[in-house]
Amino acid sequence: MTELLVARGLGIAFGGVVALKDFDLAVAEGDLLGLIGPNGAGKTTAFNLLTGVLRPDRGTIHFAGREITRARPERRALAGMTRTFQNIRLFDELTVLQNVMAGAHGRHGASTLAAVFGGPVLRRSEALIREKAEAVLARTGLAELAGQRADALSYGDRRRVEIARALAAEPRLLLLDEPAAGMNDREKAALSELVTRLNADDGLTIVLVEHNVRMVASLCRRLVVLHEGSVLAEGATERVLRQPEVVGVYLGRRRDHETRQGAGADASEGAGGGC
Ligand SMILES: Nc1ncnc2c1ncn2[C@@H]1O[C@H](COP(=O)(O)OP(=O)(O)OP(=O)(O)O)[C@@H](O)[C@H]1O
Ligand SMILES: [Mg+2]
Repeated sequence: MTELLVARGLGIAFGGVVALKDFDLAVAEGDLLGLIGPNGAGKTTAFNLLTGVLRPDRGTIHFAGREITRARPERRALAGMTRTFQNIRLFDELTVLQNVMAGAHGRHGASTLAAVFGGPVLRRSEALIREKAEAVLARTGLAELAGQRADALSYGDRRRVEIARALAAEPRLLLLDEPAAGMNDREKAALSELVTRLNADDGLTIVLVEHNVRMVASLCRRLVVLHEGSVLAEGATERVLRQPEVVGVYLGRRRDHETRQGAGADASEGAGGGC
């Protein structure tokens, strides 16, 4: 299999805090990879470095055979790398359709075209974007919510709209940062089904950050486990989840949460599910 994304020796520190060190990651075309680890392990930081939200202090990133270590986030998005955020970032006052259309804008360059040509070119471009967005809404089961304002949606639907918006950019690689956070069981099942379809049917390469280890284990063939900024384990899902150091990290965290009485429901659920 061809490697779509390769990170080598990535590192970044914030003041005295080393958030990520010597981080290596290879994601093959067609992969559905789980990136897991306790709170503060460095998962979101890894996504921020891969997508260009942050620049690494050291290390390199290659995507589709090109070095992109210092490329701007927009260039990476155009090259086919798209993400969702741990904290949902929708335009609350816009409709679901408009939010998803916003995701397609970068890809189809409507704003640039508008500046250069204006008029009919812009209208054609907008029509194309609307068509793409409607197709994505149908694909993600959100078609009937197209006209709803984003702030009127349930939490789970807002998360799905985030994914739909990312898909509208027509990515080759989709990075999902805790897509199931705050979802109920029915929504989690629908999300798992969507992720499976996107990967198996559409061939989309996906990296999934998720605290719900049960969900990750059922979806991902391969896992990378981060702990305190370093890769603690990686490889086939079943094998990784049996490794004593991985079990230790999760059980330790669960005891932590128990003593703090109920903090981090997702984390304890994750620990119970997989380790
Ligand atoms: N912009 C920042 N400034 C300072 N410290 C940061 C920043 N971003 C992350 N950190 C620190 O880096 C470490 C890794 O954080 P990160 O958000 O990547 O963890 P995470 O694995 O995504 O955790 P969670 O599961 O809670 O989302 C933490 O100690 C965090 O406090
Ligand atoms: Mg995070």
